[in-house]
Amino acid sequence: TRVFVPRDVVALALGADKIAAAIVATAKARGADVSIVRNGSRGMFFLEPLIEVETPAGRIAYGPVTLKDVAALFDAGFLDGGTHALRIGKPEDHPFLKRQTRLTFARSGITDPVSLEDYAAHEGWLGLKRAIEIGSAAIVDEITKSGLRGRGGAGFPTGVKWKTVADTKADRKYVVCNCDEGDSGTFADRMVLEDDPYMLIEGMTICGLAVGATKGYVYCRSEYPHGIKAFNEALQRARAAGYLGKDVLGSGHAFDIELRVGAGAYVCGEETALLESLEGRRGMVRAKPPLPAINGLFQKPTVINNVLSLATAPFILAHGAKAYADFGMGRSRGTMPLQLAGNIRYGGLFETAFGLTLGEIVEDIGGGTASGRPVRAVQCGGPLGAYFPPALFDTPFDYEAFAAKDGLIGHGGIVVFDDTVDMLTMARFAMEFCAIESCGKCTPCRIGSTRGQEVIDKILAGIHVEANLRLLEDLCQTMKFGSLCALGGFAPYPVLSAMRHYPEDFKPHAAIAAE
Ligand code: NAI
Ligand code: SF4
Repeated sequence: TRVFVPRDVVALALGADKIAAAIVATAKARGADVSIVRNGSRGMFFLEPLIEVETPAGRIAYGPVTLKDVAALFDAGFLDGGTHALRIGKPEDHPFLKRQTRLTFARSGITDPVSLEDYAAHEGWLGLKRAIEIGSAAIVDEITKSGLRGRGGAGFPTGVKWKTVADTKADRKYVVCNCDEGDSGTFADRMVLEDDPYMLIEGMTICGLAVGATKGYVYCRSEYPHGIKAFNEALQRARAAGYLGKDVLGSGHAFDIELRVGAGAYVCGEETALLESLEGRRGMVRAKPPLPAINGLFQKPTVINNVLSLATAPFILAHGAKAYADFGMGRSRGTMPLQLAGNIRYGGLFETAFGLTLGEIVEDIGGGTASGRPVRAVQCGGPLGAYFPPALFDTPFDYEAFAAKDGLIGHGGIVVFDDTVDMLTMARFAMEFCAIESCGKCTPCRIGSTRGQEVIDKILAGIHVEANLRLLEDLCQTMKFGSLCALGGFAPYPVLSAMRHYPEDFKPHAAIAAE
């Protein structure tokens, strides 16, 4: 019997390795025939470790399994799908999965992430094969028609970016994948590396063919050791099988990929700082123009895309632009892998078409807070995203709808806070974060963030509160419009949204205690 025990880091953190060993040992002691498959995660973190058993009726899941449950699972006949308090049934029938539209994360949790056989058996390489058939201009056309927008956060049309690089003449071009996933509450890029690495290899190779690049780099944060290991193993296997190298699948096109590990600076997720770091220098932001698409890595035309943008290309090529563009609303086409985190009952990855409201996502899908207390604030788009109060829960999840409410969907991270959160402290954290992570190149961010902390400290201490609130607002406007990159430019968003939606918290804290 095949038993699936996830190798994703969430399951590992919850003891998956020990559970896998216990299942093998118990099976041996009881004379049962078991082979363990280390699959990826389905993204239902609240059920991890989610153990699945292959039965004639399909895969049956049990979770969350702890070490002490293993003997009881055997007693209950779980190898035949037997009844037990932890039995979930077929994972695909679980409401959290059933309600999703998994176009990008279609294989996650189903396959063994590094098995080439598994990948090929689940629509792997179909997109690349079609890309080789139709050639550069038609690939760019498909991506453009799909409506795919940059999933790193800025939402720039991916097809336009690829076309710019394709149309720029140069002796060398590059594809760079931004896997410096630094936003709070985000983990979708990590899941691609760990749970479906061939999808990213395929997507980058398609991009290479489209724009005429022969070399790709993945820039990954050092905090993802399991993802780095899985991706490097996948790279080796893909190369050995001819999916990468001097002649990709006999097409006559060369393409290869290398993974580079960052050193822990948030600003290296900004594309030009990332390029500096990749070239071996300190991660400092470069002024734009020139755009990386014209003059990027080693001064050559470079596509820089987030993991999710590149990982979506195989689906679009395999199924056609329309199959992707049919999902979504307005100018936000296709699906977005939402990452539900913070104080939330059902945390995990939820891929869905754009257009659900924030309230549906947080209350309905996420089940509200894990603490059981009322939701007070939701931060979308990372540490520099705006805080949304429940009064804005009717906002549809869509680039434009969020921008209209002075927010951003960013990379799809959704962090929930209950009614014990103090929004003045959260505003202070945004300034503190910006001060620590600032690359120091421009004044509004380098100096402004430190001054911002000081002004908030004065409000906390009850010093000239009214005047300091006005000063804080003024400082935020300067940072928003005067900063060179998104780090300093977005730090005001959490501060201003907290001031606007939670004015009752912007009082000296001694006064709050006295109330
Ligand atoms: P941006 O709007 O300056 O650029 C977006 C992308 O489009 C860039 O790659 C840029 O080079 C490209 N581009 C712009 N005009 C172009 C043209 N005419 N032709 C070809 N390419 C063109 O935004 P930026 O500064 O790259 O990103 C800001 C976003 O990053 C924020 O909205 C935030 O949500 C997100 N972010 C994401 C994080 C993560 O962990 N994924 C962390 C922090 C911020
Ligand atoms: Fe550097 Fe901050 Fe200026 Fe960005 S906004 S260039 S991180 S100093």
